[in-house]
Amino acid sequence: MRAKIVAGNWKMNNDKKESKQLIKDLKKSIKRLKFKNTRVIVAPTFVNLSSSIKAAKKSRVEVVAQNMHHAKNGAYTGEISADMLKSIGIKTVILGHSERRTYFNETDASLALKVDAVLANELETIFCFGELLEDRKANNHFAVVESQLTNALFHLNASAWSSIVLAYEPVWAIGTGETASAEQAQEMHAFIRGIIAKKYTTEVADAVSILYGGSVKPANAEEIFSKPDVDGGLIGGAALNVNDFTGIIKAI
Ligand code: 13P
Repeated sequence: MRAKIVAGNWKMNNDKKESKQLIKDLKKSIKRLKFKNTRVIVAPTFVNLSSSIKAAKKSRVEVVAQNMHHAKNGAYTGEISADMLKSIGIKTVILGHSERRTYFNETDASLALKVDAVLANELETIFCFGELLEDRKANNHFAVVESQLTNALFHLNASAWSSIVLAYEPVWAIGTGETASAEQAQEMHAFIRGIIAKKYTTEVADAVSILYGGSVKPANAEEIFSKPDVDGGLIGGAALNVNDFTGIIKAI
């Protein structure tokens, strides 16, 4: 059975003290919740990963990275490699977030290299993708999502998919307060599972957790998570508040 996941992408928020405090608060607030087959993840900034891992010790909170460079090492000022992340205990890396694509020119091709590096290092990725508003208005959203997945992931062999979590994040819903409806999310997630089944097998498609991201809040999480192909959420703004994030975790 594929895992349910609630992941908080903190983006460029929280200094060292705030990161540790938020994890401490989160540990406390989820301590008594009963979980089955559910992962709770937070993604602090690079500089706070080590202290966050320490703060999350002896809890079910997993600490993951927001990005990674594809090269092993070398003259890439300001970048972080898989070895560096592994050396501090990171096991999972978010890749392909729309903000990375928009502000840092990441492309399907550069992301394919990063995915390969993640897998070569036996890490897991939460791979993000999703259409722009103009794509959806032009009824192009399925084609855009299919090409994003094809270009960045469909060169992988079937066994690699056990290290992939997908996060469908329609760009028009990120940080806008506008959410995809539960029906829109389900429609896209079912489409995604369908193209994975076509390219690989139904078994591969059924085993992949597909998260929805884009203005998920405690008030809308339950409805979105109730859909059969929605396996959880990648949460931005609401992950910065322990009560909101806990509310979303309760919804799953
Ligand atoms: P918001 O939840 O703030 O819309 O952000 C979603 C997101 O980008 C998670 O990666």
